[in-house]
Amino acid sequence: MLARYVDSQTRVISISHVQYLTGQRLDLGALADLAHNHGAVLVVDATQSAGQVPIDVAAADVDVVITGAYKWLGSTFGAAVCYLAPSVIDRFNPPFVGWRSTVDPYELDAHFLPLAGSARKMEYSTMSYASAFALGLSIRYTLGLGVGSVLRHNLDLADQLLAGLDERGATILTPRQRDMRAGIVTARFEGRDGEDVARRLTEGGVIVSPRVGSTRFSLHHYNTPADVDGALAVLDDVLSP
Ligand SMILES: Cc1ncc(COP(=O)(O)O)c(C=O)c1O
Repeated sequence: MLARYVDSQTRVISISHVQYLTGQRLDLGALADLAHNHGAVLVVDATQSAGQVPIDVAAADVDVVITGAYKWLGSTFGAAVCYLAPSVIDRFNPPFVGWRSTVDPYELDAHFLPLAGSARKMEYSTMSYASAFALGLSIRYTLGLGVGSVLRHNLDLADQLLAGLDERGATILTPRQRDMRAGIVTARFEGRDGEDVARRLTEGGVIVSPRVGSTRFSLHHYNTPADVDGALAVLDDVLSP
């Protein structure tokens, strides 16, 4: 579907790997092919996927990946990840540079800023090192669980939730195919405002998100099948007339 918007004028395809509202997961390899066939680069926002979906940048031939730390990676605010493929890193001219971006920061010479040949060229000042440390530990923890296992777990919980939502007649905004989703399931309920349903679920101890008239459920490695049953039980209370 996206292909119809891509032509020789296209410089960049910039997409979310997992879409924040519907939870739809895109095929990065196919998108990279589409971009490269038109001389464009693929920029992937992995904020809703990193930590729950394996991302093989080399196999998919992705050019750029960025992700925040505080969602599925389970870390803090204040740090983020930016991956640039070898083919991109040399031609990438950072929009923000400063003393830390230079070959030798402790030259402290603002007249001339020769950029470092590594990712440090993007590190334009001192930064929240504590956040970077926390992110390193979160990544280590997640890799210990195995991202492939996390995805299977999240999809299994999502299947359980989808079955429960179907029984309750909900309209599902999330694609059904397992390879087109991850841990997000978004639903609407006939005759009800999904954002109000979300607020009432949260009041009942089931923390979900109100999103554009819908109720968004997010299932991750710390959730269990009992959590899904519990969420459906509170949903029954919320939906009861
Ligand atoms: C796909 C995606 N990218 C980025 C963000 C947030 O970005 P930032 O941390 O820069 O506010 C969100 C937040 O919901 C998101 O869903």
